[in-house]
Amino acid sequence: MNFKSSLKKLDAQIFSAFEEEEKRIRDEIILIASENYPSRLVLNVTGSIFSNKYAEGYSGKRYYAGCENVDVAENLAIERAKKLFNCDHVNVQPHSGTQANMAVYSGLLKPGDKILGMRLDQGGHLSHGSSVNFSGKLYEFDYYGVEPETEIIDYERVFQKAEEFKPKMIVCGASAYPRSINFKKFKEIAREVNAILLADVAHISGLIATGLHPSSINVADITTSTTHKTLRGPRGAIIMCDSKFATSIDRSVFPGIQGGPFMNNIAAKAIAFNEALKPEFTTYCYQIILNSKVLSNSLKELGFRVISGGTDNHLVLIDVTSRGCTGLEVETILKKVGIIINKNSIPYDELSPRVTSGIRIGTPAVTSRGMKEKEMLLISELIHEAIKFKENDKKLEKIKEKALSLALEFHVPGIDD
Ligand SMILES: Cc1ncc(COP(=O)(O)O)c(C=O)c1O
Repeated sequence: MNFKSSLKKLDAQIFSAFEEEEKRIRDEIILIASENYPSRLVLNVTGSIFSNKYAEGYSGKRYYAGCENVDVAENLAIERAKKLFNCDHVNVQPHSGTQANMAVYSGLLKPGDKILGMRLDQGGHLSHGSSVNFSGKLYEFDYYGVEPETEIIDYERVFQKAEEFKPKMIVCGASAYPRSINFKKFKEIAREVNAILLADVAHISGLIATGLHPSSINVADITTSTTHKTLRGPRGAIIMCDSKFATSIDRSVFPGIQGGPFMNNIAAKAIAFNEALKPEFTTYCYQIILNSKVLSNSLKELGFRVISGGTDNHLVLIDVTSRGCTGLEVETILKKVGIIINKNSIPYDELSPRVTSGIRIGTPAVTSRGMKEKEMLLISELIHEAIKFKENDKKLEKIKEKALSLALEFHVPGIDD
């Protein structure tokens, strides 16, 4: 019996949710910047027998017997990540991006130490010092942001802030910053104030791996990344560093903050790194950026205000107050027509994070389905029309039909491959 028939027979409730989810990801146009569709191979290995094995410790030095096969998988993941990113040392065990950052802080700092990060409401991540996150509770954070006029990081201002605050660590990298990050400038600042530089490239690691964004490797002291965003791998994260930090980082991941690694995810990371080493992955990442630029330009032409005036990467931030809406309203309207985006604070937002003045649109997932510039123009038109006719249910129904027929023209990796 295949997977779906046995699921249907043995657990009808989960089967029903699974069927609905499969339909949703086929029918909807997914523009969440942090989501992607990994390959069927990655998904299959994630759901495989590799998940059974307890393998606390590291390859060749485990606390359990029977690790010889998962050792092979972990060694391959490490070897391939080193090749992909050209780095000295990699830890492939972090369960998530937040845990990767936690391992870096706890491995290299003491509670109460000062860290300078990017403001959450201007593009930073929860694990970069939010007061409701462990990072903001355990460490003393201060923040840099973007300039009000340009909505871009001004490195001179970051330097001034670093000189005043004297952090032990500076975190660069973001969740909602559409522009290139100058890691070399950040390193100069860190060197001047004698701070360790952590680059969190969770969002852009696929672009870095393919040379389409400047790399943080061998520039920042430590780089963390999730593996499931532009990198198109399984859920999880990695930490890359100079060999001088290797022991502290490895000890911090295990036994510091994690127990048994998810060997299924590690094997799937190895597969994803192999996929990312192929020339087709560079073509894919190139298309992600091209799609993002086309979306940004066409939305601008349709009267939306694009934060920072454009994009250099996989995401576009839009000020939707320029169209008389809040981010929450636009998220809800677009969901009605089958377009999935997320509301997002924009720099110096006067609305709360639950409402927001902006939306974040990302192209990795639609690019994985094979969409190109032509489809980006159609999508921006659909977004524009849905907002224009937000009060008109009949029109919205028509827009939904158009969005659905567009989505159905494209394959869904993980289902159709
Ligand atoms: C910059 C950045 N760092 C870390 C993370 C955390 O990743 P996770 O959700 O796997 O904990 C994210 C997630 O969106 C992110 O954008």
